[in-house]
Formats: sequence, structure tokens, C-alpha cells
Amino acid sequence: MCGIVGYIGPRSAQDVVISGLRRLEYRGYDSAGIAVGHDGVLEARKKSGKISCLDTHLADDPLPASHQGIGHTRWATHGGPSDTNAHPHLSQSGRVALVHNGIIENFATLRSELEAEGVRFVSETDTEAAAQLLGYLVDAGAPLAEAMRSVAARLDGAFTLVAIDAHDPDRVVAARRNSPLVVGVGQGENFLGSDVAAFLEFTRDAIELGQDQVVEITRESVEITNLDGTPAGDVTPYHVDWDIAAAEKGGFDWFMRKEIHEQPRAVADTLLGRYAASGELVLDEVRISPEELRRIDKIVIVACGTAFYAGMVAKYAIEHWTRVPCEVEIASEFRYRDPIIDPMTLVVTISQSGETADTLMAIRHAREQHAKVIAICNTNGATIPRESDAVIYTHAGPERGVASTKGFLTQVVACYLLGLYLAQVRGMKYRDEIAAVMDELSSMPEKIQRVLDDSQQVLDLAGELKDEHSFLFLGRHVGYPVSLEGALKLKEIAYKHAEGFPAGELKHGPIALVEQGLPVFVVVPPRGRDQLHDKVISNIQEVRARGARTIVIVEDGDDEVLPYGDVVIRHPRVSTLLQPLVATVPLQLFACELAARLGHDVDQPRNLAKSVTVE
Ligand code: M6R
Repeated sequence: MCGIVGYIGPRSAQDVVISGLRRLEYRGYDSAGIAVGHDGVLEARKKSGKISCLDTHLADDPLPASHQGIGHTRWATHGGPSDTNAHPHLSQSGRVALVHNGIIENFATLRSELEAEGVRFVSETDTEAAAQLLGYLVDAGAPLAEAMRSVAARLDGAFTLVAIDAHDPDRVVAARRNSPLVVGVGQGENFLGSDVAAFLEFTRDAIELGQDQVVEITRESVEITNLDGTPAGDVTPYHVDWDIAAAEKGGFDWFMRKEIHEQPRAVADTLLGRYAASGELVLDEVRISPEELRRIDKIVIVACGTAFYAGMVAKYAIEHWTRVPCEVEIASEFRYRDPIIDPMTLVVTISQSGETADTLMAIRHAREQHAKVIAICNTNGATIPRESDAVIYTHAGPERGVASTKGFLTQVVACYLLGLYLAQVRGMKYRDEIAAVMDELSSMPEKIQRVLDDSQQVLDLAGELKDEHSFLFLGRHVGYPVSLEGALKLKEIAYKHAEGFPAGELKHGPIALVEQGLPVFVVVPPRGRDQLHDKVISNIQEVRARGARTIVIVEDGDDEVLPYGDVVIRHPRVSTLLQPLVATVPLQLFACELAARLGHDVDQPRNLAKSVTVE
């Protein structure tokens, strides 16, 4: 989820691009770069680190004056954060510069094709394949827009591409698929941005580029075409009323709410490029050989907070698919209990930030015992993936809200990919069985979107219950960690007393907490797990008989539960193991809305930090 800016017009391209990048820094901040055209030559400056590092670099090595420029602030996916991997990427001849947001799934094929033609690559990024291909076509005589259409047609995956050609100082060209791009329409100047925040200080008229479209901007024109070169349909600009702070949050009041709504896209990005046309699961960041993975006899998942709950969900799937025993440990407890791990143990650590000290110390301990460590992480190049034997990145984009939301869903998906991968290499699942799960996983973004579209009921409920002091969350099987996560969200941002329990455990003590009117959320398993479903219905009756107000989260079409739920929140039908991906979303929205209505700082709750770098 990088930030992209493009500009053509009378102002200084450097000023416009850098100010746009600053507005987009929330989208990624591990490196930044700019390229401008000047006298038929492209000049680029790029630097790892925040935009302030690029500022220093520009002060030391200024760019020439220019009125045509592109810029990028990066959230690394392919290739760690470094000066070389930073965007823009230049074609071999230096004639074309390109910036990219997204993931190009077939970059390896394109790269080998171009290398066979004598093109030399300098970075580890997927982006450079697009830059080199574009340059190759332009060098061969294609105008930039035509070359961009050909490149976009060749790419698989998600991308926003913005490019300039040194020999064409009057134009900036862009394309998009499954990744955002907005055109800012000015007077005698035009802009491009990942979102409107990039150019709001210059114009409030915008056009959203459609799927698989290419746009050419000059000072006086905006021309949009489909990939076959035909003109796009309706391209009437709309007017943006948001202030800049609202624009950074995509019009939402809080980053947390925006991130909850980004989950369909984030889950799709986690899945991108993992499933080869041959039907094989490909996790190319796993640098542990299939032989080594076949030898492991135990898996230990280690993480903190929300990431720990993602690990608890994953245990059910991993054991079910691989039949390898899987333990889940709180990272801060791990090394102090002298855990039994050896070279046959696979330690899986989960961390959104990649900097959590407790998790890092657990990794160091595991590696001292010669265990193999795989990190599931959202932050490319962070300490945790660097110190692990392998990494699966979640590609969720930066998470700004302290309360983790898209982090959780994408961690669950990444763990499932790992589980399926292990089942594949250990011969525990046939290809068609893996394909069936992958098919269902690929339908999840649309199902999560449906939960978001139907969320008004949950928001109203938060308004009704905002003055309650205590909440319980119950679930069984994968619904149990979901209930723990629901309770954690409410504690950390709404400062409410909230507890999650396995529904069957209530009768062993916690049921004494139930009193008249206590709100109790219950995650009801899909009816596919018939025994479990019926057991949870009994648990709902137990708390209801004692005066609880029951809020049940159930799949569409489950009417058996109706007599026992005071409030029934529905989600699309999914199989049991995938239910956390839809059932968690109403709980996130409930906590966010309740905290917002209480007037709390939802994104930066008291006493908490986004990244906990002390033990
Ligand atoms: O960055 P990490 O995933 O390692 O962080 C782990 C926990 O600190 C984190 O999940 C924390 O519990 C969140 N505030 C939960 O919303």
C-alpha cells in the first residue's frame, strides 16, 4: 500500500510531488523517491527511510527545475527497504521512470523474458519488471500511453503504475488494476495520486480511474482509455469536500475504521501471487527446504495480543490440515518456561509490526535451540523477519490504529496459507483439496465486504450499549479466539471491562458474572459443525436464563438460534475454519463505534503504543 504522486503543470514538479508524498506518507514510509524530466533526461533521487531522509538527500543533491514529475513513498512488498529497491525505477536506457503500488504476480516470468533480451535488472522488486518492460517498448518506438496499455495487459496481480518519458516532457501516464488511482483536475495543470490527499491543496476536482484503464495527463487534458485503446465512458470529475486530515483517512473519522473497511482489499493482497496456475501453492519467501519442512514434528506459534489470537485460530486449521501437533504460546512467556524445542520444531512467529520485543526474544531463544523460524509479518525488512529463517508477508499495508484489525485478518489468512503449504509439501492434502480451500479463501474479500455493507445494525447497537460497564464474549473452536479478540478490542479502545471465554467453560465459574442485562456476544459456529453448533445454542440458553442480553453472530440462514438471540447479527455462509474472517468484523466495528461515541481517541488509546519494543 504505497503512496503515488504524479504532476504536470507550471509549478515546480519537485514541490508538488514532495508535498503530495508528505500527505501520503501514512500509506508507507520505508523509502521515498522522485523523478523529474529535464532537457530530455530523467533525474531521479531516492532514499530508504522516511520522506525526511529524501529531503536531506535532495538538499545535498538538488534536482533540476522541472514541470513534470512522479514520486513514491513505499511500503515494501518485494525486496526489502533499501535505496536500490526504492521507487522510481528507471528503464535500462534511463528514458522511462516508473512508480508502482501493488503486487505484480508474474514479475518473475517477465523478468526472465527481458533478461533473455539482454535487459539488466538492478533491484529485487517486482516493480522493475514493469519499468523495464515499459522502457523496452518505448525504446522500440511505442508512445508512452500505448506502451503503458501493453504493459498493463501483460501484468497479473494488482497495480497502479505511473510513468514519465524523458523524451516527452508534456505528459504523465498511469494505469490501474485492483489498486487505487485518482486524477486531480486543475486549471492548466493536472495531478495523479493514490488518493485525493496527494493534491487537495491544489485542486478539489477529481476523477477516479476505473479498473484496467490508462490515463494520460498533460497541462490541458486528461485522456482516459481502456486497455484496448478505446476511450473510457463517463469521466466527469467530482468535487471533494474533505479537509486534508479526513482525506488521509479516506473520509473516515478514524484510521481504525478506515482499516476495518480496507480488510477486503487487504485479504485479497495477502492471497495475491500465492497460488500458481499449476495448482501449486507458492510461498517463495519460505527459505526452508521442503525436506526440512517434511522433517518437522512439532509447530509452535509464538505471538502477542491480537497476533496471538490469530495464532490460536491458526492452530485449528494447521493441525486439521497437517496432523502435526501445534502449540500456541504468548511470546512473553515462551523462553521463561524452558520450552521443549529442537531442530525438528518449526516456530511460527506472528507480528504486524515486526518489532515486538517479546516476540523477537522468543525467536532468538528458538534459534539458539536450532529450531527453524518462520515469521508472519506485515512490515517488510523489520527486525523479526530479518532474524527469522523465512517470512510470509501479509501485505496489509501500514496499520495506523493502535488496535489491530486488518492485521488480524491478514495474519489468519497468511497462517492458513502456511498450513496449506505444509500440508502440500508433507503430502497431507491433494491438490484439489487445497484448491477447494483456496477457492473459498479467494471468495472471502467479497464476503467481508458484505459484512461491512450490512454494518448499520452493529453501529446502532454500539450506541445503545455504550454506557454498559461489562461485556462477555463467548465462542467455541475458532469462535473462541474470535471472542477473545472481540473482548480485547473493547478493552483497549473503549476501556470497558470485557472477557472472552470458551462457551463451554462458562459453567465452570465465569457464569457467576452473568446478571440481569449483561451484554453477552456469542459467536455461533456454522451448522457445518453440527455438534458444535448445538452445544453453543445450549450455552446461549444458559446465559439467557440468567438474565443476559444475548447478541449472537450467526451465518445467514441459521434460524435455529433465533429464539435465543436478543440481537442477531448475520454474516455470509462460510466453512467453519474461515468463519473468523467474517465473524470478527462486527466485533471490530462494535468496539470502534462504541469508543468513538464515548469520545475516546480511537487511534491512540491511553497507555498503549502501536509497536511494543520493550519486554
Ligand atoms: O506488532 P505485533 O503484531 O507484534 O503486536 C502485537 C500486539 O502488541 C498487538 O496485537 C496488540 O495487542 C494490539 N494493540 C491489539 O489490537
